[in-house]
Amino acid sequence: MAHQLSKTNYQLQSLASGKIFTDEGWMLDAPGEDKPGLIRAVYEKKQLNPKDDSFGIYKFSDWLPVMDFLEGSYAPLTYKSEGLANHLGLKNLYITFSGYWPEKGISMRTCSFKETEAYSVCGRLRPEHDQVLVVASAGNTARAFARVCSDNNIPLLLCVPEDNLNALWFDEPIKNNVKLVASRAGGDYFDAIHLSNLAAKLDKFVPEGGAKNVARRDGMGTTVLSAATHIGSIPDYYFQAVGSGTGAIAAWEANLRLLEDGRFGTRKMKLMVSQNEPFVPMYDAWKVRSRELPVIDDNLARDYVSRIVAKVLSNRKPPYAITGGLFDALSDAGGEIMTATNEQAHHAAKLFEEFEGNDIHPAAAIATATLIDAVKKKMVAKDAVIMLNITGGGEEKFKREKALHYLKPDIIFDIDPDFEEVKEKLTRLF
Ligand SMILES: Cc1ncc(COP(=O)(O)O)c(C=O)c1O
Repeated sequence: MAHQLSKTNYQLQSLASGKIFTDEGWMLDAPGEDKPGLIRAVYEKKQLNPKDDSFGIYKFSDWLPVMDFLEGSYAPLTYKSEGLANHLGLKNLYITFSGYWPEKGISMRTCSFKETEAYSVCGRLRPEHDQVLVVASAGNTARAFARVCSDNNIPLLLCVPEDNLNALWFDEPIKNNVKLVASRAGGDYFDAIHLSNLAAKLDKFVPEGGAKNVARRDGMGTTVLSAATHIGSIPDYYFQAVGSGTGAIAAWEANLRLLEDGRFGTRKMKLMVSQNEPFVPMYDAWKVRSRELPVIDDNLARDYVSRIVAKVLSNRKPPYAITGGLFDALSDAGGEIMTATNEQAHHAAKLFEEFEGNDIHPAAAIATATLIDAVKKKMVAKDAVIMLNITGGGEEKFKREKALHYLKPDIIFDIDPDFEEVKEKLTRLF
């Protein structure tokens, strides 16, 4: 349902100063402010009126900073668990699923909640936009943006670590307006981000912005809107595995809007976020309630990342300390950062498949493993209203049912590439 929205339905607010301002375009920061902090969308409509499911994710457009509704999206799906809930003895476990599960009515073709970001971010682009969007990713985000930009003719440069290229599978080929560059094997997500920062210095390119982009956060926040509108109230607990923590920040922000709406209760859900051992920098910081992340040697960090099963949880510079970031979200809402091992994730994924009937992404398995652990340790009451954010799933099912095409890199750069070389090669690419 191509549909041109006539005007913006939001303003922006600096969380560092509180100042409200108009979005002049692709604003990622508050103009004229030095103190680093996130900006947030303030929507005209204080009450959420979801549209019908045919609008996909844009059913929540009251609280999305979009100019346009793109084709092919799905909103995250929430249902009340019976199988896993009974197994764990939980009375009110709600699963919010993003991925491929046509039997339940959701067919995200890139199989993760990163599609919610991509449809929201690309919907924010204005008709006059003429730069190439730059996105760095360890996998799922790249896949989501590639699909959405290819289907909607939006020029895109993806920066991905070479070791993660096997994440770039698709059921239909990706068009030529999407280009892929990789940082050489041995590098990780951090190196791909570095490459994207170099690209973003060139006039032709504009950074997508990651956590700083209000569209990215509010796209991810639709997981909570899906849960709250299904349940009829804000949950008590929110379980999600984090790499950057952006999803959890978004969940907190959605919660704050639901409080203002007034019809979903008065609670702030506890943010129960999780990391994959041994790569647990935010866990280490939050354990001692520190706003600063521990300094980890680059090589040690790469070694940790090479050992985790949920590779998408490997962000080494997450928006944790920044004003409005994960530290502030946890401090305001309450909650814990938990950890799970590869073995626990494997076990949790098996349980999910057995009791709910679909495969889940290793990151979602980390979240499920920490829910299991939290129940065991009696950190949550049996009748608590729990939202388990299954951020990715149905990937194996999708791959069984479809013929796959892989996107190949146009260029592979060294881990610490020379800027002039990047400039020359990327300028030729578009
Ligand atoms: C399936 C899945 N779950 C969780 C995450 C972590 O998300 P966040 O960026 O909110 O930390 C990612 C990130 O790529 C992901 O792909």
